[in-house]
Amino acid sequence: MNRRAFVLSGLSSVAYAAVPGNLKITAVKVIVTNPARAPLANYVLVKVETNQAGLWGWGDCTCTGSELGVAKFLEEHMAPGLMGRNPMRIEDLWQTLFFLPYYRSGSVHMSAISGIDMALWDIKGKVADLPVYELLGGRARERLLTYTTASGRDFHEVEENARKQMARGYKVIKVQVLTPGMESGYSVPQSDRQRAATQKAYEEGLPPSETWEPGAYVRTVPKLFDYLRKTLGDDIGLLHDVHERITPNQAVALAQDLEPYKLFYLEDPLPPEHLDTFRLIRQRASTPIAMGELYVGAWEGLNLIEEHLVDYVRNDLAHCGGITTGRKVATACEPKGILTAWHGPGNIAPISHMANAHVSLSVPNFGIEECEVNWPPAVHEVFSDMPTFADGYVNISDKPGLGVEVNETAAAKYPYLRRLRPTIRRADDTAWPY
Ligand code: CO
Repeated sequence: MNRRAFVLSGLSSVAYAAVPGNLKITAVKVIVTNPARAPLANYVLVKVETNQAGLWGWGDCTCTGSELGVAKFLEEHMAPGLMGRNPMRIEDLWQTLFFLPYYRSGSVHMSAISGIDMALWDIKGKVADLPVYELLGGRARERLLTYTTASGRDFHEVEENARKQMARGYKVIKVQVLTPGMESGYSVPQSDRQRAATQKAYEEGLPPSETWEPGAYVRTVPKLFDYLRKTLGDDIGLLHDVHERITPNQAVALAQDLEPYKLFYLEDPLPPEHLDTFRLIRQRASTPIAMGELYVGAWEGLNLIEEHLVDYVRNDLAHCGGITTGRKVATACEPKGILTAWHGPGNIAPISHMANAHVSLSVPNFGIEECEVNWPPAVHEVFSDMPTFADGYVNISDKPGLGVEVNETAAAKYPYLRRLRPTIRRADDTAWPY
Protein backbone atom coordinates (compact mmCIF):
# COMPACT_ATOMS: atom_id res chain seq x y z
CA MET A 1 0.00 0.00 0.00
CA ASN A 2 1.44 3.31 -1.08
CA ARG A 3 0.24 5.32 1.91
CA ARG A 4 1.98 8.66 2.14
CA ALA A 5 0.99 11.87 3.79
CA PHE A 6 0.90 14.97 1.65
CA VAL A 7 0.39 18.56 2.62
CA LEU A 8 -1.63 20.65 0.20
CA SER A 9 -0.36 24.13 -0.36
CA GLY A 10 -2.41 27.04 -1.62
CA LEU A 11 -5.73 28.13 -0.17
CA SER A 12 -6.79 24.69 0.96
CA SER A 13 -3.82 24.10 3.31
CA VAL A 14 -5.21 20.80 4.55
CA ALA A 15 -2.93 17.97 5.57
CA TYR A 16 -4.27 14.63 4.41
CA ALA A 17 -3.20 11.15 3.46
CA ALA A 18 -4.06 10.41 -0.16
CA VAL A 19 -4.23 6.83 -1.27
CA PRO A 20 -4.55 7.23 -5.06
CA GLY A 21 -6.27 3.87 -5.55
CA ASN A 22 -8.99 4.74 -3.03
CA LEU A 23 -9.87 8.17 -4.35
CA LYS A 24 -13.41 8.74 -5.61
CA ILE A 25 -15.15 11.70 -7.21
CA THR A 26 -17.95 12.82 -4.89
CA ALA A 27 -19.20 16.04 -6.49
CA VAL A 28 -18.87 18.10 -9.65
CA LYS A 29 -19.71 21.75 -9.08
CA VAL A 30 -20.25 24.27 -11.89
CA ILE A 31 -19.75 28.00 -11.35
CA VAL A 32 -20.50 30.72 -13.91
CA THR A 33 -18.86 34.02 -13.04
CA ASN A 34 -17.95 37.28 -14.75
CA PRO A 35 -15.65 39.17 -12.37
CA ALA A 36 -14.57 41.63 -15.07
CA ARG A 37 -18.27 42.56 -15.70
CA ALA A 38 -17.33 42.71 -19.38
CA PRO A 39 -18.46 41.22 -22.72
CA LEU A 40 -16.78 37.91 -23.63
CA ALA A 41 -15.80 37.42 -19.98
CA ASN A 42 -18.31 34.92 -18.53
CA TYR A 43 -16.23 32.06 -17.14
CA VAL A 44 -17.62 28.56 -16.69
CA LEU A 45 -15.57 26.90 -13.95
CA VAL A 46 -15.77 23.32 -12.76
CA LYS A 47 -14.71 21.99 -9.36
CA VAL A 48 -14.24 18.23 -9.07
CA GLU A 49 -14.42 17.17 -5.42
CA THR A 50 -13.18 13.89 -3.96
CA ASN A 51 -13.76 11.68 -0.93
CA GLN A 52 -10.45 12.98 0.46
CA ALA A 53 -11.11 16.04 2.64
CA GLY A 54 -9.45 19.12 1.14
CA LEU A 55 -8.63 17.45 -2.17
CA TRP A 56 -10.31 18.90 -5.25
CA GLY A 57 -9.40 20.12 -8.71
CA TRP A 58 -10.34 23.22 -10.72
CA GLY A 59 -10.94 23.38 -14.45
CA ASP A 60 -12.11 25.95 -16.99
CA CYS A 61 -14.99 24.97 -19.34
CA THR A 62 -15.53 28.48 -20.71
CA CYS A 63 -16.80 28.52 -24.28
CA THR A 64 -17.61 32.10 -25.16
CA GLY A 65 -20.86 32.23 -27.09
CA SER A 66 -22.26 29.07 -25.44
CA GLU A 67 -21.50 29.62 -21.73
CA LEU A 68 -24.82 28.62 -20.22
CA GLY A 69 -25.16 25.73 -22.67
CA VAL A 70 -21.87 24.30 -21.40
CA ALA A 71 -22.86 24.81 -17.76
CA LYS A 72 -26.17 22.97 -18.19
CA PHE A 73 -24.54 20.23 -20.29
CA LEU A 74 -21.93 19.67 -17.57
CA GLU A 75 -24.48 19.38 -14.80
CA GLU A 76 -26.97 17.20 -16.67
CA HIS A 77 -24.87 15.08 -18.99
CA MET A 78 -21.24 14.95 -17.80
CA ALA A 79 -21.22 15.12 -14.00
CA PRO A 80 -23.25 11.92 -13.44
CA GLY A 81 -20.69 9.97 -15.49
CA LEU A 82 -17.95 10.97 -13.05
CA MET A 83 -19.60 10.16 -9.74
CA GLY A 84 -17.76 7.48 -7.77
CA ARG A 85 -14.98 7.20 -10.36
CA ASN A 86 -11.29 7.41 -9.47
CA PRO A 87 -10.04 10.91 -10.46
CA MET A 88 -6.50 9.58 -10.98
CA ARG A 89 -7.60 7.77 -14.16
CA ILE A 90 -7.52 10.82 -16.40
CA GLU A 91 -7.26 9.10 -19.78
CA ASP A 92 -10.02 6.63 -18.91
CA LEU A 93 -12.36 9.40 -17.72
CA TRP A 94 -11.58 11.50 -20.80
CA GLN A 95 -12.61 8.60 -23.05
CA THR A 96 -15.65 7.86 -20.86
CA LEU A 97 -16.93 11.41 -21.17
CA PHE A 98 -16.17 11.57 -24.90
CA PHE A 99 -18.37 8.57 -25.68
CA LEU A 100 -20.99 9.26 -23.01
CA PRO A 101 -23.44 11.46 -25.00
CA TYR A 102 -23.10 9.30 -28.20
CA TYR A 103 -23.52 12.39 -30.47
CA ARG A 104 -20.07 13.66 -29.66
CA SER A 105 -17.57 16.44 -30.31
CA GLY A 106 -18.54 20.03 -30.90
CA SER A 107 -17.68 23.08 -28.85
CA VAL A 108 -20.09 22.49 -25.94
CA HIS A 109 -19.18 18.84 -25.35
CA MET A 110 -15.45 19.40 -25.79
CA SER A 111 -15.32 22.49 -23.57
CA ALA A 112 -17.00 20.47 -20.82
CA ILE A 113 -14.44 17.66 -21.21
CA SER A 114 -11.59 20.21 -21.33
CA GLY A 115 -12.41 21.73 -17.95
CA ILE A 116 -12.89 18.37 -16.27
CA ASP A 117 -9.57 17.19 -17.73
CA MET A 118 -7.84 20.24 -16.22
CA ALA A 119 -9.47 19.57 -12.86
CA LEU A 120 -8.30 15.93 -12.92
CA TRP A 121 -4.71 16.99 -13.69
CA ASP A 122 -5.00 19.52 -10.84
CA ILE A 123 -6.01 16.70 -8.48
CA LYS A 124 -3.23 14.42 -9.69
CA GLY A 125 -0.66 17.15 -9.18
CA LYS A 126 -1.92 17.84 -5.66
CA VAL A 127 -1.79 14.12 -4.80
CA ALA A 128 1.77 13.90 -6.13
CA ASP A 129 2.63 17.26 -4.50
CA LEU A 130 4.07 18.34 -7.84
CA PRO A 131 3.18 21.00 -10.41
CA VAL A 132 1.45 19.49 -13.45
CA TYR A 133 4.41 20.29 -15.73
CA GLU A 134 6.49 17.87 -13.66
CA LEU A 135 3.96 15.11 -14.38
CA LEU A 136 4.22 15.95 -18.11
CA GLY A 137 7.97 15.40 -18.19
CA GLY A 138 9.32 18.46 -16.42
CA ARG A 139 10.39 21.88 -17.62
CA ALA A 140 11.81 21.96 -21.13
CA ARG A 141 12.47 25.71 -20.69
CA GLU A 142 12.68 28.29 -17.92
CA ARG A 143 10.09 30.76 -19.24
CA LEU A 144 7.62 31.22 -22.07
CA LEU A 145 7.98 33.80 -24.84
CA THR A 146 4.71 35.73 -25.05
CA TYR A 147 3.09 38.46 -27.12
CA THR A 148 0.46 41.14 -26.77
CA THR A 149 -1.70 43.20 -29.12
CA ALA A 150 -1.13 46.70 -30.45
CA SER A 151 -4.06 48.04 -32.42
CA GLY A 152 -5.23 51.43 -33.60
CA ARG A 153 -7.50 53.49 -35.80
CA ASP A 154 -4.60 54.23 -38.16
CA PHE A 155 -1.02 53.12 -38.81
CA HIS A 156 0.51 55.79 -36.58
CA GLU A 157 -1.65 54.79 -33.61
CA VAL A 158 -0.67 51.12 -34.08
CA GLU A 159 3.00 52.18 -34.15
CA GLU A 160 2.63 54.25 -30.96
CA ASN A 161 0.91 51.39 -29.13
CA ALA A 162 3.51 48.91 -30.37
CA ARG A 163 6.29 51.13 -29.02
CA LYS A 164 4.59 51.20 -25.62
CA GLN A 165 4.51 47.39 -25.57
CA MET A 166 8.14 47.17 -26.72
CA ALA A 167 9.04 49.46 -23.79
CA ARG A 168 7.36 46.91 -21.48
CA GLY A 169 9.69 44.25 -22.86
CA TYR A 170 7.52 42.55 -25.46
CA LYS A 171 9.56 40.96 -28.24
CA VAL A 172 6.57 39.88 -30.33
CA ILE A 173 3.45 41.98 -30.96
CA LYS A 174 0.20 41.27 -32.76
CA VAL A 175 -0.73 44.30 -34.85
CA GLN A 176 -4.27 45.08 -36.02
CA VAL A 177 -5.58 48.28 -37.64
CA LEU A 178 -9.06 49.59 -38.36
CA THR A 179 -9.73 49.23 -42.10
CA PRO A 180 -10.49 52.60 -43.72
CA GLY A 181 -14.23 52.94 -44.35
CA MET A 182 -15.14 50.32 -41.71
CA GLU A 183 -16.81 51.08 -38.38
CA SER A 184 -15.24 48.05 -36.67
CA GLY A 185 -13.07 45.00 -37.26
CA TYR A 186 -11.40 42.15 -35.42
CA SER A 187 -9.39 43.36 -32.40
CA VAL A 188 -9.44 47.04 -33.41
CA PRO A 189 -11.07 50.14 -31.85
CA GLN A 190 -14.65 50.74 -32.95
CA SER A 191 -15.97 54.03 -34.29
CA ASP A 192 -18.07 56.07 -31.85
CA ARG A 193 -21.20 55.17 -33.81
CA GLN A 194 -20.47 51.41 -33.68
CA ARG A 195 -19.66 51.60 -29.99
CA ALA A 196 -23.03 53.26 -29.27
CA ALA A 197 -24.90 50.68 -31.38
CA THR A 198 -23.06 47.82 -29.62
CA GLN A 199 -23.89 49.23 -26.19
CA LYS A 200 -27.57 49.57 -27.13
CA ALA A 201 -27.71 45.94 -28.29
CA TYR A 202 -26.04 44.78 -25.05
CA GLU A 203 -28.65 46.62 -22.99
CA GLU A 204 -31.43 44.98 -25.01
CA GLY A 205 -29.83 41.56 -24.56
CA LEU A 206 -29.41 41.14 -28.33
CA PRO A 207 -26.31 40.43 -30.44
CA PRO A 208 -24.80 43.63 -31.89
CA SER A 209 -24.38 43.78 -35.67
CA GLU A 210 -21.22 44.86 -37.48
CA THR A 211 -20.65 45.45 -41.19
CA TRP A 212 -17.54 44.04 -42.83
CA GLU A 213 -16.04 44.14 -46.33
CA PRO A 214 -12.88 42.07 -46.81
CA GLY A 215 -11.61 43.78 -50.00
CA ALA A 216 -10.47 47.00 -48.34
CA TYR A 217 -9.04 44.99 -45.44
CA VAL A 218 -6.72 42.81 -47.55
CA ARG A 219 -5.44 45.91 -49.37
CA THR A 220 -4.72 47.67 -46.04
CA VAL A 221 -2.85 44.97 -44.08
CA PRO A 222 0.30 44.78 -46.29
CA LYS A 223 0.52 48.60 -46.16
CA LEU A 224 0.38 48.44 -42.34
CA PHE A 225 3.31 45.99 -42.28
CA ASP A 226 5.27 48.09 -44.79
CA TYR A 227 4.76 51.13 -42.52
CA LEU A 228 5.69 49.23 -39.33
CA ARG A 229 8.86 47.68 -40.79
CA LYS A 230 9.96 51.18 -41.86
CA THR A 231 9.19 52.76 -38.48
CA LEU A 232 9.85 49.92 -35.98
CA GLY A 233 12.58 48.07 -37.90
CA ASP A 234 13.16 44.37 -38.49
CA ASP A 235 14.01 43.21 -34.95
CA ILE A 236 10.53 43.23 -33.44
CA GLY A 237 8.45 40.12 -34.05
CA LEU A 238 5.13 41.03 -35.68
CA LEU A 239 2.11 38.84 -36.19
CA HIS A 240 -1.43 39.37 -37.42
CA ASP A 241 -4.80 37.65 -36.98
CA VAL A 242 -7.12 37.54 -40.01
CA HIS A 243 -9.81 35.83 -37.92
CA GLU A 244 -11.12 34.04 -41.03
CA ARG A 245 -12.77 37.16 -42.38
CA ILE A 246 -11.61 36.83 -46.02
CA THR A 247 -12.24 34.59 -49.03
CA PRO A 248 -9.92 31.65 -49.86
CA ASN A 249 -8.35 33.48 -52.80
CA GLN A 250 -7.81 36.61 -50.73
CA ALA A 251 -6.04 34.46 -48.12
CA VAL A 252 -3.57 33.16 -50.71
CA ALA A 253 -2.91 36.67 -52.03
CA LEU A 254 -2.51 38.11 -48.53
CA ALA A 255 0.02 35.45 -47.51
CA GLN A 256 1.97 36.31 -50.67
CA ASP A 257 1.71 40.09 -50.19
CA LEU A 258 2.99 39.79 -46.61
CA GLU A 259 6.07 37.71 -47.50
CA PRO A 260 8.55 40.64 -47.59
CA TYR A 261 7.69 41.64 -44.01
CA LYS A 262 8.75 38.33 -42.43
CA LEU A 263 5.86 37.85 -40.03
CA PHE A 264 6.21 35.79 -36.86
CA TYR A 265 3.01 34.23 -38.18
CA LEU A 266 -0.27 34.94 -39.97
CA GLU A 267 -3.16 33.63 -37.88
CA ASP A 268 -6.45 32.09 -39.00
CA PRO A 269 -6.21 33.10 -42.66
CA LEU A 270 -9.09 30.71 -43.47
CA PRO A 271 -11.99 28.90 -41.84
CA PRO A 272 -10.80 25.48 -40.64
CA GLU A 273 -12.72 23.62 -43.36
CA HIS A 274 -10.67 25.01 -46.27
CA LEU A 275 -8.01 22.32 -46.46
CA ASP A 276 -7.46 22.79 -50.22
CA THR A 277 -6.69 26.46 -49.79
CA PHE A 278 -4.17 25.75 -47.05
CA ARG A 279 -2.36 23.66 -49.66
CA LEU A 280 -2.46 26.59 -52.10
CA ILE A 281 -1.09 29.00 -49.50
CA ARG A 282 1.73 26.57 -48.76
CA GLN A 283 2.67 26.23 -52.43
CA ARG A 284 2.69 29.95 -53.09
CA ALA A 285 3.92 31.77 -49.98
CA SER A 286 6.50 31.35 -47.23
CA THR A 287 4.57 33.43 -44.67
CA PRO A 288 4.30 31.25 -41.52
CA ILE A 289 0.72 30.14 -40.82
CA ALA A 290 -0.90 29.65 -37.41
CA MET A 291 -4.19 27.84 -37.06
CA GLY A 292 -6.33 25.87 -34.66
CA GLU A 293 -8.42 27.82 -32.16
CA LEU A 294 -11.68 26.50 -33.65
CA TYR A 295 -10.64 22.85 -33.60
CA VAL A 296 -12.80 21.06 -31.07
CA GLY A 297 -13.46 17.54 -32.32
CA ALA A 298 -11.22 14.52 -32.02
CA TRP A 299 -8.29 14.92 -34.42
CA GLU A 300 -9.68 18.02 -36.10
CA GLY A 301 -6.83 19.76 -37.86
CA LEU A 302 -4.74 16.60 -38.05
CA ASN A 303 -4.58 16.88 -41.88
CA LEU A 304 -2.98 20.29 -41.56
CA ILE A 305 -0.35 18.82 -39.26
CA GLU A 306 0.29 15.66 -41.27
CA GLU A 307 0.71 17.62 -44.51
CA HIS A 308 2.71 20.31 -42.67
CA LEU A 309 0.39 23.05 -43.93
CA VAL A 310 0.75 25.12 -40.75
CA ASP A 311 3.76 26.29 -38.75
CA TYR A 312 2.06 26.89 -35.40
CA VAL A 313 -0.88 25.04 -33.84
CA ARG A 314 -3.25 27.20 -31.86
CA ASN A 315 -5.68 24.70 -30.39
CA ASP A 316 -7.57 26.08 -27.43
CA LEU A 317 -7.00 23.73 -24.50
CA ALA A 318 -10.29 24.96 -22.98
CA HIS A 319 -12.18 23.76 -26.07
CA CYS A 320 -10.21 20.89 -27.63
CA GLY A 321 -9.99 18.45 -24.72
CA GLY A 322 -7.75 20.02 -22.09
CA ILE A 323 -4.21 19.16 -21.09
CA THR A 324 -4.59 15.56 -22.29
CA THR A 325 -5.43 16.64 -25.85
CA GLY A 326 -2.92 19.49 -25.86
CA ARG A 327 -0.12 17.11 -25.04
CA LYS A 328 -1.21 14.73 -27.82
CA VAL A 329 -1.49 17.54 -30.38
CA ALA A 330 2.00 18.77 -29.49
CA THR A 331 3.34 15.24 -29.92
CA ALA A 332 1.69 14.94 -33.36
CA CYS A 333 3.40 18.22 -34.34
CA GLU A 334 6.85 17.35 -32.99
CA PRO A 335 8.23 15.29 -35.92
CA LYS A 336 7.25 18.06 -38.37
CA GLY A 337 8.84 20.83 -36.34
CA ILE A 338 5.44 22.51 -35.99
CA LEU A 339 5.40 24.67 -32.84
CA THR A 340 2.69 25.33 -30.28
CA ALA A 341 0.94 28.67 -29.78
CA TRP A 342 -2.09 27.71 -27.68
CA HIS A 343 -5.06 30.04 -28.01
CA GLY A 344 -5.00 32.20 -24.87
CA PRO A 345 -7.29 35.25 -25.04
CA GLY A 346 -8.81 37.05 -22.05
CA ASN A 347 -12.13 35.32 -22.69
CA ILE A 348 -10.93 32.05 -21.19
CA ALA A 349 -10.37 31.92 -17.45
CA PRO A 350 -6.95 32.13 -15.75
CA ILE A 351 -7.24 28.39 -15.00
CA SER A 352 -6.90 27.75 -18.75
CA HIS A 353 -3.94 30.09 -18.96
CA MET A 354 -2.28 28.06 -16.21
CA ALA A 355 -3.12 24.80 -18.01
CA ASN A 356 -1.67 26.21 -21.24
CA ALA A 357 1.52 27.18 -19.42
CA HIS A 358 2.03 23.73 -17.86
CA VAL A 359 1.86 22.10 -21.30
CA SER A 360 3.97 24.83 -22.93
CA LEU A 361 6.69 24.51 -20.30
CA SER A 362 6.98 20.76 -20.81
CA VAL A 363 6.68 20.11 -24.57
CA PRO A 364 9.83 20.18 -26.71
CA ASN A 365 8.15 22.06 -29.58
CA PHE A 366 6.87 25.18 -27.83
CA GLY A 367 6.53 28.28 -30.02
CA ILE A 368 4.88 31.18 -28.20
CA GLU A 369 2.38 31.74 -25.39
CA GLU A 370 -0.68 33.90 -25.91
CA CYS A 371 -1.32 34.95 -22.34
CA GLU A 372 -3.48 37.65 -20.77
CA VAL A 373 -1.45 39.38 -18.06
CA ASN A 374 -3.48 42.55 -17.43
CA TRP A 375 -6.46 41.19 -15.50
CA PRO A 376 -8.78 43.60 -13.67
CA PRO A 377 -8.59 43.55 -9.82
CA ALA A 378 -11.85 41.56 -9.50
CA VAL A 379 -10.31 38.69 -11.52
CA HIS A 380 -7.39 38.61 -9.10
CA GLU A 381 -9.94 38.52 -6.27
CA VAL A 382 -11.49 35.32 -7.71
CA PHE A 383 -8.35 33.52 -8.93
CA SER A 384 -5.38 33.06 -6.61
CA ASP A 385 -2.64 32.71 -9.22
CA MET A 386 -2.06 33.28 -12.90
CA PRO A 387 1.00 33.47 -15.11
CA THR A 388 3.27 36.39 -14.31
CA PHE A 389 4.90 38.63 -16.94
CA ALA A 390 8.48 39.90 -17.04
CA ASP A 391 10.58 41.19 -19.92
CA GLY A 392 8.54 39.63 -22.73
CA TYR A 393 8.11 36.25 -21.06
CA VAL A 394 5.56 34.62 -18.77
CA ASN A 395 6.10 32.06 -16.05
CA ILE A 396 4.15 30.21 -13.36
CA SER A 397 4.83 29.12 -9.81
CA ASP A 398 5.81 25.60 -8.78
CA LYS A 399 2.74 25.05 -6.60
CA PRO A 400 1.23 21.54 -6.78
CA GLY A 401 -1.39 20.84 -9.43
CA LEU A 402 -2.30 23.68 -11.76
CA GLY A 403 -1.35 26.13 -9.02
CA VAL A 404 -4.55 28.19 -9.04
CA GLU A 405 -7.43 28.20 -6.55
CA VAL A 406 -10.83 29.86 -6.93
CA ASN A 407 -12.39 32.03 -4.22
CA GLU A 408 -15.98 30.81 -4.52
CA THR A 409 -17.39 33.55 -2.29
CA ALA A 410 -15.82 36.20 -4.50
CA ALA A 411 -16.97 34.43 -7.68
CA ALA A 412 -20.57 34.45 -6.42
CA LYS A 413 -20.48 38.25 -6.29
CA TYR A 414 -20.03 38.41 -10.08
CA PRO A 415 -22.80 36.41 -11.81
CA TYR A 416 -23.34 35.73 -15.51
CA LEU A 417 -23.68 38.86 -17.61
CA ARG A 418 -25.58 38.58 -20.89
CA ARG A 419 -23.40 40.23 -23.52
CA LEU A 420 -23.83 38.39 -26.79
CA ARG A 421 -21.18 38.20 -29.47
CA PRO A 422 -21.79 40.34 -32.55
CA THR A 423 -23.08 39.11 -35.87
CA ILE A 424 -20.91 40.11 -38.82
CA ARG A 425 -22.63 40.95 -42.12
CA ARG A 426 -21.41 42.12 -45.52
CA ALA A 427 -22.67 45.45 -46.87
CA ASP A 428 -25.39 43.51 -48.76
CA ASP A 429 -26.48 41.87 -45.46
CA THR A 430 -24.87 38.46 -46.10
CA ALA A 431 -23.88 36.68 -42.86
CA TRP A 432 -20.07 36.33 -42.61
CA PRO A 433 -17.66 34.54 -40.26
CA TYR A 434 -16.34 36.36 -37.24
CO1 CO B 1 -7.31 33.94 -33.72
